[in-house]
Amino acid sequence: MKNILVTGGLGFIGSHTVVELQNEGFEVLIIDNLSNSTIDVLDKITSITTKKPTYFNIDLKDKVAVQQFFKENEIDGVIHFAASKAVGESVEKPLEYYENNIGSLVYLLQEMRANNVNNFIFSSSCTVYGQADELPITENASVKPAESPYGNTKKIGEEIIKDTTKISIINAIALRYFNPIGAHKSSKIGELPIGIPQNLIPFVTQTAAGIRKELSVFGSNYPTSDGTAVRDYIHVVDLAKAHIVALTRLLNNKNKASFEVFNIGTGNGNSVLEVIQSFEKVTGKKLNYKLVDRREGDITAAYADTTIANNELGWKAELTLDEALLSAWKWQQTL
Ligand code: WQD
Repeated sequence: MKNILVTGGLGFIGSHTVVELQNEGFEVLIIDNLSNSTIDVLDKITSITTKKPTYFNIDLKDKVAVQQFFKENEIDGVIHFAASKAVGESVEKPLEYYENNIGSLVYLLQEMRANNVNNFIFSSSCTVYGQADELPITENASVKPAESPYGNTKKIGEEIIKDTTKISIINAIALRYFNPIGAHKSSKIGELPIGIPQNLIPFVTQTAAGIRKELSVFGSNYPTSDGTAVRDYIHVVDLAKAHIVALTRLLNNKNKASFEVFNIGTGNGNSVLEVIQSFEKVTGKKLNYKLVDRREGDITAAYADTTIANNELGWKAELTLDEALLSAWKWQQTL
């Protein structure tokens, strides 16, 4: 029985990954400071898998607490989600983002090294590509100057990890997510945005639920098929399963380098209007929206070239945009 630490394990992607880890027979320990999650997610996970993860209310910026944790717990691998992730907020509070996202990562890696924990999966993001020169985006696409301090913490994070794998026996995989959406089929866990949703899908479902008056579509003059921006929307359960595949690759020493990167997306690009059409189709709800100006910092289009993830990692997204949107709507109706 392998013991896996999941930092941020009560968050949106973290909780879905904990469920898949438990489904695969891993023993899960969660560190989460509840800054962007709620403690009831722990019971929700338990009700799905009938196994309760061991939970620690630790802030990873607390170096002593992190040291204590690794002294007291035998860990075989770490999946690191815990980070601040609001793009807009990071522009207003860069120092908080660097302190939290970079500081926590450094303390975590220091204690992994000190305690011989050698398998690390890092939550990275396609945001490191900025507006890629070519589509679909491969892992060799150039990493662009970050559009936000949030994006910069992902870029810098990857560099820190790469440098650490060179001087230690830590092996690491960075998964560059495209746009995670949807919810577990049980509708017991899902995306829980705090305040006004920044991301598209929670705003869509809250508009459909009458919580928001109407959706603003940011930009309708992009050089795309219908003028609205294109993204690669991946079901969060497919994304969670990619973490299990990546972790198993390291645990079984199948990695071909001490630091590897994989794009985790569906390989399909959908515009905002296509998302709205899909949502209306699968839910039967008419969505109230208006076309407005572009949002500062947004790119025109991003979708993944999934060749390496499919062939090398042996992972492929299975769920469709329709299925993801319907799962998001069912989740919204439980809130
Ligand atoms: C998607 C599309 C918007 C809201 C960001 C981060 C990325 C990751 C996912 C954390 C864009 C449009 C949105 C709205 C809209 N975050 N939109 N009206 O910006 O692609 O990616 O979130 O890991 O790192 O960069 O996602 O969901 O905010 O936007 O029209 O109310 O929907 O303009 O085209 P984004 P998003």
